[in-house]
Amino acid sequence: MTGIYNLDGKVALITGSGRRKGLGEAMARRLAAEGCAVMLHDLGQVKGEIAPAHGVGTTAEMEGIAQEMRAAGQKVGTVTGDMLVEDDVRGMVEATVATFGQIDILVNNAGIGYLFGPLTEMTAEKWDAVLGVNLRGPFLAMKYAAKRMIEQGQGGSIINIASQAAKSGFAMATAYTASKHGLVGLTRAAALEWGAHRIRVNAICPNHVTTGLGAWQNEFMSKARGQTLDEYMASMKARIPLGRPGLVEDTAAACAFLCSDQAAYITGEAMNVSGGEEYH
Ligand SMILES: NC(=O)c1ccc[n+]([C@@H]2O[C@H](COP(=O)([O-])OP(=O)(O)OC[C@H]3O[C@@H](n4cnc5c(N)ncnc54)[C@H](O)[C@@H]3O)[C@@H](O)[C@H]2O)c1
Repeated sequence: MTGIYNLDGKVALITGSGRRKGLGEAMARRLAAEGCAVMLHDLGQVKGEIAPAHGVGTTAEMEGIAQEMRAAGQKVGTVTGDMLVEDDVRGMVEATVATFGQIDILVNNAGIGYLFGPLTEMTAEKWDAVLGVNLRGPFLAMKYAAKRMIEQGQGGSIINIASQAAKSGFAMATAYTASKHGLVGLTRAAALEWGAHRIRVNAICPNHVTTGLGAWQNEFMSKARGQTLDEYMASMKARIPLGRPGLVEDTAAACAFLCSDQAAYITGEAMNVSGGEEYH
């Protein structure tokens, strides 16, 4: 038995896990430490305004993470693909099965959290990109992964990384808020459809975590509120009951638990990992 949650023999695909300091990287390292074989995935390259350098994990970055994990004796594969392209998403699931023979866990983590600004200035193209990566992409990944899980007949676990913005509204982040609320709805409906196949579908709702994306959000939101970065971070800490922003490890621990047999009776849940800031 490996780790606390014993994921020996399981295989996971984690989207958007090729970026250092990200939630995806942390979940990949944690699931691997629990004995799981892990397929890292990322976009791999900058693609204009909807995938700028400050929002994207490069292929070189992902391969570096994979090498470190393999050096630690972990089973790791890599695949690139665009969550906006259906063939790419199907290809990620197929690559996981081709590499490891099966898929038991899907973590929908890839997301756009940077096309922020006033709703009156929001273009339809940016709206479509946010909804495309954060909601349509997860739908496609779930569809192809669950088909395979149903064929395997061994159940499975799907985790959708939503957000506090799936439960509460955030000004200047309207498309993001709408996409994450939608992701929780998708989670609940899919949990009902796939319960009979013992495929559990849950969402995790972190509040703020200073990943690469989170650091960009801190800069943007502090400027939007007319605060210095220090003032913004201090006000954030002050409103969180446990007195600090989230760490990537907090979400990774919740993910490992929800993927494990210890969570065998939990499905359709949208679990807050927010230090008490979000409670509904
Ligand atoms: N950091 C936070 O405070 C926070 C809080 C709540 C939820 N989240 C969610 O957690 C997830 C991970 O975010 P993170 O903060 O670790 O940032 P991150 O930038 O490390 O991860 C996001 C990943 O998504 C990938 N991605 C973006 N567009 C893509 C596309 N078209 N195709 C494929 N991959 C694409 C990026 O390359 C990146 O690796 C996101 O869904 C985000 O919304 C983050």
